[in-house]
Amino acid sequence: MPENQVEEIKQKTDIVALIGEYIQLKKAGRNYKATCPFHGEKTPSFIVSPELQIFKCFGCGEAGDAFAFLEKYEGMEFVEALKFLAERAGVKLTPISGRDTGEKEKLLAINTFAGRFYQYFLLNHKIGKSALDYLIKDRGLKLSTIKEFQLGFSPDNPVVLKKFLIDKKKFHPKDVERSGIGYPKGELFIDRFRGRVIFPLYNHRGNIVGFAGRLMPGPREKEMAKYINTPETPIYHKGGLLYGLNLTKSDIKKKETAIVVEGELDAISSWQAGIKNVVAIKGSALTEDQVRLLSRFCKKAILALDSDIAGDAAARKGVLVAQDQGLEVRVATLKDYKDPDEAARKNPEEYKKSLIGSLGIWDFLLGSVFKRYNAVSGTGKAKISKEVVPILSLITDKIVQAHYIGRVAKKLEVSEEAVIQQVSSVGGKEEVNKDKGLLKEKEEIKGRQELLEERLLSLMFRYNPQQLTEKNIAALIKTSLAKKILEEYLVYSKKHKKFDVSKFADKLPKELFNGFAELVLTEETELEDESYAQTETTIVKYELKVFEVKEGLVNLTNKIREFEVKKEKKKLLKAKEEFNKLTEKLHSLEEKVGQGIILDED
Ligand code: CTP
Ligand code: MN
Repeated sequence: MPENQVEEIKQKTDIVALIGEYIQLKKAGRNYKATCPFHGEKTPSFIVSPELQIFKCFGCGEAGDAFAFLEKYEGMEFVEALKFLAERAGVKLTPISGRDTGEKEKLLAINTFAGRFYQYFLLNHKIGKSALDYLIKDRGLKLSTIKEFQLGFSPDNPVVLKKFLIDKKKFHPKDVERSGIGYPKGELFIDRFRGRVIFPLYNHRGNIVGFAGRLMPGPREKEMAKYINTPETPIYHKGGLLYGLNLTKSDIKKKETAIVVEGELDAISSWQAGIKNVVAIKGSALTEDQVRLLSRFCKKAILALDSDIAGDAAARKGVLVAQDQGLEVRVATLKDYKDPDEAARKNPEEYKKSLIGSLGIWDFLLGSVFKRYNAVSGTGKAKISKEVVPILSLITDKIVQAHYIGRVAKKLEVSEEAVIQQVSSVGGKEEVNKDKGLLKEKEEIKGRQELLEERLLSLMFRYNPQQLTEKNIAALIKTSLAKKILEEYLVYSKKHKKFDVSKFADKLPKELFNGFAELVLTEETELEDESYAQTETTIVKYELKVFEVKEGLVNLTNKIREFEVKKEKKKLLKAKEEFNKLTEKLHSLEEKVGQGIILDED
């Protein structure tokens, strides 16, 4: 890939506009802010800088340019991101040679072809006839629905897949194996999904990243797993996928709500019954990754889980994960039906009603405890208390908490005081902003010297990078990050007449990039005035000098003590002289600052 094409694409891409297409950015001084899409937080510490053309999160530390954003946010590979941005910017890429095709792209291609292969057998081949019958007659799916979700069937035959993918499409057996679709066995290449109804698993961008295969009903259901899935591959992570999202994301956005169900067929049946804003989590508890993905499209989710699992530990955990990430969650219980699939087929109206009547998280969590134990007996009460108290302590809004404490007390027939006492003995989950805590910690770890140096560089980079080349600056800079950045700048300034902060950042080695971004992105709205910035710079320089002198004094004091003990007279004398000199210097520094003049001379 020619370097200048990457440059050109970068030039033509505005990172603010790009990121703004995915998350909501708010102007804050020279920069833009948002809550970070890469970790859960409630107060924004994610900064996008139009000047630097980079993003940086002060909470979790993620940082980078437009490419890095797409790689992290969309899971693209570099080449993918390049193509994406090129198209967006209207840049024609010179063709990429075969070896540049990333592994992910290869796996996507294999999956896409396999998907077509399976679909062909379900829709157009007699081998798939019974599977098609099963989906239509037993599972109540319309042909149009089957096509929409691109369901398929895998022939129970040890050669056809190999013939197609390896012999005809010329994929390397190793690559097909890496895609998780099959594996070699002697001369054969075994299709992992053989004999199963196929659900292609699309990521939200509409690429097939894996498959789920369901056994056809019959005796084999007893001895084999009913469902098998693509194992984890570079493109498929079970915990990150939301089945159906590629088709339903616009409905989810429109309705500002997602209906979350367990299985593929739950999602498909719901969709067919007119509940279009649905996704499936494929039998696992809702994960953080899934919540984060969903949060891009809506702020609210209603979990419509199988009736037998709605109260189980995994479901409860999922609810809390979502709540923690700031997604509003409600839980719908399907009274008379085994799962959403059955409800959607037998009584869609009732199903929709149960969605409308879904419970808020606290009602759901507390209700599930009361359902499991007997609230009348003493031991029942003890068990309930043990589970209910931690839940109550999670409620941060004190008024809401008081409300539920009252309800629990009533149900257990005990005084509210007793419940309150239990709850306060557990102590609420510290709601103090986790991210802020992190930041503060970082600042405390950094010494004062380090902070001053970084501030000095930050001021100079912004207002007067030229000054950085002056000798006395290098003398002031001692800590590692600031020193390395300064060194990079000195090299850069020899080659470039004009300082371009974004190009400079671009050229920095990876391990310095983050530190540099942090340094120049620190919010300094009060510094819009340049003369004020100049004064600020002078003060920081002064402080650094004072700091240096004071440190010298401390060292000398120690030495003087040592020489006194050892009775080394000559050395003692010399140290005392030095001590006096430094003290004088300190005084003169202090005097100068008193007069408002600090000179750059030594
Ligand atoms: N699942 C899975 N692997 C398994 C079992 C289940 O991935 N070994 C996922 C599938 O996505 C499945 C969902 O969990 O759709 C629900 O599983 P289950 O409740 O067992 O499905 P049923 O409703 O019994 O299956 P179906 O609707 O296909 O009859
Ligand atoms: Mn089901």
